[in-house]
Amino acid sequence: MKIDIALKKEIDNSYEVHIGTLEDIHIDAKVAIITNPKVSGLHLHYLLSKLSAKEIYIITVEDGESFKTLATVEKILNNLFEHKFNRSSVLLALGGGVIGDMTGFAASVYQRGVDFIQVPTTLLSQVDASVGGKTGVNNNYGKNLIGAFHQPRAVYIDPHFLSTLDKREYSAGIAEIIKMAVCFDKDFFEWLEKADLHDEAQIITAISRSVKTKAMVVSQDEKERGLRAALNYGHTFGHVIENETAYKKYVHGESVAIGMMMANELASRLGLMKSDEEQRIKKLLLKYKLPVAYDIQDTEAFYEAFFLDKKSLDSKITFIVPHNIGGVELKNDIDKDIVMDVLNTYAGTVRV
Ligand code: GLY
Repeated sequence: MKIDIALKKEIDNSYEVHIGTLEDIHIDAKVAIITNPKVSGLHLHYLLSKLSAKEIYIITVEDGESFKTLATVEKILNNLFEHKFNRSSVLLALGGGVIGDMTGFAASVYQRGVDFIQVPTTLLSQVDASVGGKTGVNNNYGKNLIGAFHQPRAVYIDPHFLSTLDKREYSAGIAEIIKMAVCFDKDFFEWLEKADLHDEAQIITAISRSVKTKAMVVSQDEKERGLRAALNYGHTFGHVIENETAYKKYVHGESVAIGMMMANELASRLGLMKSDEEQRIKKLLLKYKLPVAYDIQDTEAFYEAFFLDKKSLDSKITFIVPHNIGGVELKNDIDKDIVMDVLNTYAGTVRV
């Protein structure tokens, strides 16, 4: 016997991203705000002045990538059970990418899924991580290997939060903005070359353009079957750098900046990027004091580490290679020799 389970109905998961001074948010449900002690000290009061709900409960978890684990998510879930949150309750992430990813993941599994809202407080999470519904945690095998696609109910991006961000974290967010422009939008890149992203009006424009680009990508490929993987430009190399340096030397956007330089070198060796375009990207990264150099100690080990990335679990490495500025291609058939040539240019010498 064969019984069909018909599941073809489309579910509308659309949502709005609000950019600008935080508006009043009313939620007709019990809300748990998930945050960390640092963000809570800086911004919880402000959020609470804008938020009304049936009941509001605060869950504070430890700060940093090393706490982005199943153990922390379990703490969040236990808190929700202890305080009798139910399936119509809402979680609200107040923080950067770590908080957003863990809150989203907790929301995706709590009683088989509840709604969540993103209030990102770092530039990196405002322009990329908070939009698109990627949620999850790290484990011993690598970054974000456990998780779910679970779209937020809404995203509120308030540039006010950026005033307390340290300079390196701010630049790290700019790296992701540059990433969007290089892969998808040459006009935006040219605008960035002239812009000053320390100016409030201009950063709002840059955030809006990045979120529009991300929305375009996610609307076409929510589950990363193809196009969305292009958002990992710089990340294939960057994740190895983060791993090799034990997440201590570089913040995420910094290792992505170096990774973009390595991907550009690869593109150039494949004849896909002209040297003046490579230089323009480097100049823009340097304008915001992002690192563009890295000394690879062991190129073979660096190459092997690509296979720990989840995009490479099928034993082929997927490289995201830009086509000059404004275009991008996914390649999983690049000869090891070509990749090793790229890695060798970064070995034994720090390039600036
Ligand atoms: N940060 C890459 C993505 O959301 O797909």
